[in-house]
Order: sequence, then C-alpha cells, then structure tokens
Amino acid sequence: MSVKIVDTALRDGSQSLIATRLTTDEILPVAKVLDKAGYYALEVWGGATFDSCLRFLDEDPWERLRAIRKACPHTKLQMLFRGQNILGYHHYPDDVVEKFVQKSIENGIDIIRVFDALNDVRNLKSAVDACIKYHGHCQIALSYTTSPVHTVDYYVKLAKEVEKMGAHSLCIKDMAGVLLPEDAYELISRLKAETKLPIELHSHCTAGVCEMTYRRAIDAGVDIIDTALSPLAGGTSQPATEAFNYALKGTKYDPKLDQEKLDEAAAILQKSRDKYLKNGTLKAKALCVNPRILKYQVPGGMLSNLMSQLDKQGAMDKFEDVLKEVPAVRKDMGYPPLVTPLSQMVGTQAVMNVMTGERYKMVPKEIKDYLHGLYGKAPAPVNEEIKKKIIGDDEVITYRPADKLEPEFEKLKKQYKKIAKCDEDVLSIALFDQVAISFLKRKYGLEAEEFNVTL
Ligand code: CO
Repeated sequence: MSVKIVDTALRDGSQSLIATRLTTDEILPVAKVLDKAGYYALEVWGGATFDSCLRFLDEDPWERLRAIRKACPHTKLQMLFRGQNILGYHHYPDDVVEKFVQKSIENGIDIIRVFDALNDVRNLKSAVDACIKYHGHCQIALSYTTSPVHTVDYYVKLAKEVEKMGAHSLCIKDMAGVLLPEDAYELISRLKAETKLPIELHSHCTAGVCEMTYRRAIDAGVDIIDTALSPLAGGTSQPATEAFNYALKGTKYDPKLDQEKLDEAAAILQKSRDKYLKNGTLKAKALCVNPRILKYQVPGGMLSNLMSQLDKQGAMDKFEDVLKEVPAVRKDMGYPPLVTPLSQMVGTQAVMNVMTGERYKMVPKEIKDYLHGLYGKAPAPVNEEIKKKIIGDDEVITYRPADKLEPEFEKLKKQYKKIAKCDEDVLSIALFDQVAISFLKRKYGLEAEEFNVTL
C-alpha cells in the first residue's frame, strides 16, 4: 500500500533548523507548489510558529494560517497542539482550549495533532473532544522515549485508550530521534495488529538512524511518515521528502509525489535556506550527525540549550557531567519524555545539580510544580526520597491539573476589548500575554494611546 507523506518543512523543519524564522512571504510560494505535489498533508502551524510570529517576525499567526489555506486548496493542513498547554508552556482552562481548536479549524486547519509531554491522556481530553466537535481530524501523538516503563506494551495500551477516546489516527512522536529501526518495526507491527487506527511516524535525523527507522516502519505497515522538503531536511529535522519519493518509487509503497513539483518547491525554499545559512541562523552543528543522543537520550534541541547555558556560565568543562546527570534526574522524576516543557525543566535541574555540587540543593519552581502533580501523572513513580527533600509532605494532586482552572476566555475578551478586535486576537493574548498585547498594539496602531485594561 502506498505510503502517505506529510511534509514538515514549513513547521518542524523551520523550527528544528532555523529557529522558526521562516516568514509568511517565504512560506507562501513554497506552499503553493507543494499543494500540487500530492501530499497527504502539510504541517504548517503550531509548535513554536505562533510564538515566533508574534515575538520575532511581527506577523499575525492567524493571518498566516488563512494565507496558507488560500494557497493550498487541494491539500490538508496540519498543526501541532500541546494538549492542555495548547501552544504555550503551562495548562490553560478548558474553555480556552476549546475556543483555540474551534478557531484553528475555522481558519483553515484540517488535522490537529494533539500530544502531552507525559502521555497523561487526561491532558488530551479537552483538545480531542473539541476537535471532534468541530469536525477536525483528530490525531493523538504519543511522545516516544525509552525507559524501563516505556515498553512496547506501554505504547500499545495507550494506543487502545487513544482509540477509545475517539482519535482518528495515531502518531508516534519521536522528538529526539532515538527510535531505532528494529524497535520501530516491533512497535509499529504491534500497533497495527492491536488497533484499527492509521499509524503515522514522526522522528528526527539527529542521531543518524531516522531513514533506516522509517524504512523498517514501512515494512511493518506504517501508514504515514513525516518528511521535510530537502532544503529544511536532515540534521535535527526530518529526512528529505525527495529521498523517500525516489527510494520507494516503483515499489508497492510508492508515495507517488510529483517529483517535478518537489524540485520546483525545493528551488524556492533553498533560497531561504541559503539566506539563513549566510546570516548564521542555520548553524552547521544542527546539520551534523549526533549519535551521542542515543547514549544519553537527550534531544538535539536540548543538547544545544545545555551547551549555551554552560557556555554563559563559563562552565563548558562540566558538559559531560551534565549529560550524565540528565538521565539521573529523569529517573528521579519518573522518566518523563524529554519534550517541551519537560526537556527544559529536566535540563535546568541537571545543570543546577552539577553546578552547585549538591543534587537538588537548588530546585526551579517548575520542578516543584511537577512534583506537586501540576503537570499531570509521572509515567513511573518518582524517587520518594528526593520528592521529600524538595516538597516535604506537601499534598500531591491526583485530579487533572486543569480541573481547578476557572474559565477565562470571556473574561479576557472583556478585559482587552480595546486591543483584541476578534476572538483570534483574544486567543493570542490568552496564550502569549504581553508579547501578544504589544504585537496587537503595533498591528492596530494603538501604541500611543493609554489603555485602561482592567475595565
Ligand atoms: Co518534531
């Protein structure tokens, strides 16, 4: 059966390689051509793209989405959605989650890929229910990681739960690129045998094994793979779309993409890639093979964050110690997958443990919140001794973290009625506070006026 392809160049490719700096003007001419290439879908929105539009590019992310929709009348558009965190870094109330899903679909999204860093399905429920309610394709992604609890049985059990929740498809999201070919074969075979869901695989080239892993997943019957158009492929991004189109040509898996269209789109995107190479946004390091992540199970983005944290403190000589401390902290915390926001939290704690010379002498607020249960349920029990050292006998919540959050959409709408001209503006503010407020003031030419925002 023909393998379906989702091209990620305009979202994950841009995020992984050039700090999400692609502008709408750079995206549209590429999207227009890709629309005619025969893809299953294009991943174009969500993750960091929204944040980057408001913070760095002075662009309205909603306008970008509408423009891409217009440029792509033939192809499904896909977004990435961090469960109850939406596109932000903490939990939002259910009414904001629902409204965000509704508006994403109204503005042009077809497929919403929902995931939770901890694979705590309670954190997926609001987004999933809303996606089904507003007739989107709801894909649930399971964060892939390795640990004594993250076995094939663990993923199969979760996949069955996800199927019951009403998801239309399932994605294995290997953000670190640590899934090995034979493990992928086993995992995908079991998922295909024990659920009816179409299965998609999302991985990264960081460790140098991704193409092999995809190929074995195809043998096991994976339905969809995520690849990126060549100018933003490889390194910490996905494998090149063109490579798979050539490699599978004439086989029963032939994705049948229009190679001429791919070449045409790649020629356009290559100009942007060259620009970011020249101005230093695209770093050679991001394109190098890094098998060390297989040893320490640390995602590529996290490696470079750790390096820059240590570099700033003039402590690069501690890099190996910190790399060894990351898996130790992760074990203490009950093996959370290292994806946003857990990757940053675990990384910061590891740096503190090494730099202070005493483990958990200093602890960031986010780790304390995590131990209080405020991010959801840890995949495995946390280290009790360490928990006691950090939060003593404090109560740990066992309910869903968003259960106690008051609705806030209508409140924000009223509060910011002079700045937010539509519901989409209110959602930008709900997620990115001051960053969105100053963007909207610039957009509507309101900087000079005084606002009483506490009306
Ligand atoms: Co990714």
